[in-house]
Amino acid sequence: MTWWQRGIIYQIYPRSFMDSNGDGTGDLPGIISRLDYLEWLGVDAIWISPIFPSPMADFGYDVSDYTSIDPLFGTLDDFDRLLADAHRRGLRVLLDYVPNHTSDRHPWFLESRSSRDNPRRDWYIWRDPSRGGGVPNNWLSAFGGSAWEWDAAIGQYYLHTYVKEQPDLNWTNPEVEAAMLDVLRFWFDRGVDGFRIDALRQVGKDPAFRDNPPNPDWTPDQRPYNSLLPVYSADRPENLEVVRRFREVADAYPDRVLIGELWVPIERLMVYYGVRGVHLPFNFHLITTPWKARAVSALIDQYESALPSGAWPNWVLGNHDRSRVGSRVGPARARVAAMLLLTLRGTPTLYNGDEIGMQDVSIPPDAVRDPFERNVPGRGFGRDPERTPMQWDAGPHAGFSAETPWLPIADDYRTVNVAVERADPRSMLSLHRALIGLRRATPALAVGSYRSIYTDDDLLVYEREAGAYGRREVALNLSGRPRVYRRSGAPARILISTHLDRRDERVAGALALRADEGVVLEPAR
Ligand code: GLC
Repeated sequence: MTWWQRGIIYQIYPRSFMDSNGDGTGDLPGIISRLDYLEWLGVDAIWISPIFPSPMADFGYDVSDYTSIDPLFGTLDDFDRLLADAHRRGLRVLLDYVPNHTSDRHPWFLESRSSRDNPRRDWYIWRDPSRGGGVPNNWLSAFGGSAWEWDAAIGQYYLHTYVKEQPDLNWTNPEVEAAMLDVLRFWFDRGVDGFRIDALRQVGKDPAFRDNPPNPDWTPDQRPYNSLLPVYSADRPENLEVVRRFREVADAYPDRVLIGELWVPIERLMVYYGVRGVHLPFNFHLITTPWKARAVSALIDQYESALPSGAWPNWVLGNHDRSRVGSRVGPARARVAAMLLLTLRGTPTLYNGDEIGMQDVSIPPDAVRDPFERNVPGRGFGRDPERTPMQWDAGPHAGFSAETPWLPIADDYRTVNVAVERADPRSMLSLHRALIGLRRATPALAVGSYRSIYTDDDLLVYEREAGAYGRREVALNLSGRPRVYRRSGAPARILISTHLDRRDERVAGALALRADEGVVLEPAR
């Protein structure tokens, strides 16, 4: 088993994690100052969202230089210190790799747009207007509107799958491929342990740039992007060719991991596995599945049975693009969700702040920062609510910064914060730390097999087993009412409850679960 199979990944959104210099935005020295915390929490790896020079049109996902650090976050020296300090503690460090697009200020794009015969013209995707005039095809930007932007100076459109400040690279151009693979080598050579690959589903495009068909199931409350089925602009066979190159580069280094950001159906996720694929195609399906025992159980079964042999599963409960789990399912259920994430088979990824039960923060219109919210306002698509600063303590600005932060601090910061929760043995943070510790100490939970034992409208019960290392049983009540689960197996002992009581309670036949309670059991000796 590799470290990324056994381990737990913790996502850091660097703008909001810890500000060391009082400019209201998090930075690398800030992260370094909190490595003690991450070590105490017990995670194995951190993935840091983009820290590269960027005009910040999409807060770092618009990269203007792939091999440097934005001064807002610090310097390359700071990064090297962070890496060394993390490694000393046994923490791996993953970076974000953004291959689909650059910033419109990247020197490559400035050259590309400067003239039709510039050698870098073909590094991006330029098209003449369609025959009747107007955009070359009907493709949509993920953040609203057409994916094509008119460049009046030259009289052509360029493609941008995200905001117009993020022009798409042309991966059919071998020079683009060579330059972008060098980026991976640059960071691997520095000692980076892997990458989360951004927007991987959109990297390859239909060579004929055909129109996408309408999505018959779309309703106007959904994202505008989903009104078309992106069959010609996403999850293309061309992607796999690109992924193969990434993998060849990664395989030249020992023990590295590639994780793909892939918002695709389960059966399509599987295509990205394999020796020519990524190690972990991110599985986001817990985020989009209703919090109902039967739905979650069916999801797990579907995912487990779809995995090709040798493919290692993974689960994600939240990230910087989606409403926080604490808000999606509510604070009580978020505890059960944490137990689920940390007892399922497969690498868990935890989003910073979810471990203390942070909630989405409602953002007043004049404080909105996210370009998605600005393009499609008032529809609940904006991502600022889940990106607010980490709540460290009850002091000014929640201990995140000495000055006013770039996004507002949540109102609940005096009670929901790391310092208060560390001191409270029943807190959400204590629950996370206990579950992480248990997972790490228990082979059945870390790497054992998964078997569904029982599901009804409220209950989800499963077993994890690692041969001679024994087995554990997980019983989750996903409902807001008390339930009794009638066990048929041998007597057992409670190792942990989501309520952080009942430890060592013996359970023979009936297991009574309170509303929104989950327990992990071990066979009684
Ligand atoms: C991914 C990122 C998101 C970003 C987008 C464009 O979906 O997670 O935050 O806006 O790609 O890079």
